Amino acid sequence: MVESEENMKLDLCSIILDNPVIPASGTFGYGREFAEFYDINRLGTFSFKGTTGERRFGNPTPRIAECQQGMINSVGLQNPGVDAVINEELSEIAKIFSKPVMANVSGFSIKEYVDVACRLALEEQVGWIELNISCPNVHNGGMAFGTDPHEAANVTEKVKRALQSQKEMGGDKPLIVKLSPNVTDITEIAVACEAAGADGLTLINTVQGMRINLKTGKPVIAKKIGGLSGPAIFPIALRMIYQTYEKVNIPIIGCGGVSSAEDVLEMMMAGATAVQVGAANLVNPMICPEIIDGLPLHMKKYGIDNIADIIGGAH
Ligand code: SIN
Repeated sequence: MVESEENMKLDLCSIILDNPVIPASGTFGYGREFAEFYDINRLGTFSFKGTTGERRFGNPTPRIAECQQGMINSVGLQNPGVDAVINEELSEIAKIFSKPVMANVSGFSIKEYVDVACRLALEEQVGWIELNISCPNVHNGGMAFGTDPHEAANVTEKVKRALQSQKEMGGDKPLIVKLSPNVTDITEIAVACEAAGADGLTLINTVQGMRINLKTGKPVIAKKIGGLSGPAIFPIALRMIYQTYEKVNIPIIGCGGVSSAEDVLEMMMAGATAVQVGAANLVNPMICPEIIDGLPLHMKKYGIDNIADIIGGAH
C-alpha cells in the first residue's frame, strides 16, 4: 500500500488521484518495464499505449530521430489490438497496478473509436477513456479527426453517446479527448469537444517536425515527418493550456515536455488539473517518482499548501 499526502490529491472527472503525475501514452507501455524500477502505484495513474481495433506493427523504421531538447517519433500506433489488451495486458496490469488506469484509444474511423472505447470502458480497471484524435503519424486516422472542430466534435459526440448507452453495465467512463497542437487555434477544437460531451481534455500531443541526415541528404525518419516531444515543446504546451483554460470548464491534463516537479507546478498554474510526463520517461525511467518526491519540497518553496489550489492560478 502506497502512502499518499492529502495535499497532493486531485479530482480528475470524479476519480481521486493521489498526485498529479501521469506517464503519457506511448512512453510507458503497459507499465511492466517501469514496475521493475519502482512501485508504479506511486503514480496518479498512467495512460497506456494507444489501442486500435486490430493489432498494428506501426510505421517502417527508422521511426525515431533525436534532437536537442527532444525527440521525434513516428511509431504509427504500434499496439497489440483491443482483444489482446483486454485479454492479456489488463490482467498483467492488475498484478502491478491497483488504481484505475487511463485507456488511450486510437482509430481510423468513428466506428473503430466507438467500438474500442466501449469495449475498454467496460473493463473494471479502466478509469478514463483518453480519445487520441491527435496522432500525427498515421494517414486517415488520428490527427485527421483532431484538426477540424466539426470532425473532433463528431467523433467525441459519437463516443460519448455510445459510452452513455452502456451506463447500466458500468461502462460510462469519463471521456478525455487528447488534442493536437498542429492547428491554428487549439481552443476552437477544445470548445467543440467540450460542447460534444468531452469530460476532460489532454493537451498537447506532439508537434510535427523532421530531421535530415546530412550524409544521405534524406529525411532521417522513414515517413519523413514525425511528432516532436521533450522539453523543446514545454512552452508551446503551456501556452495552449493557458489559452484553453480560459475557454472551457472541463479539466485539462497538461502534457508536453514535462521533466521536473517545477514543470508540473507551472503547468498546473496555467490551468492543468493533472500532468502527463512523456519523453522524459525514455531518458530517465525514474523521472516520475523523482517528480513525485520533489513536489512537496517545491510546494513548500513556493508557499503552496494544497496542490489543487494552484490550478489556473496564473490567470
Ligand atoms: C505513434 O504511435 O505514432 C504516437 C502516438 C501519438 O502521437 O499519438
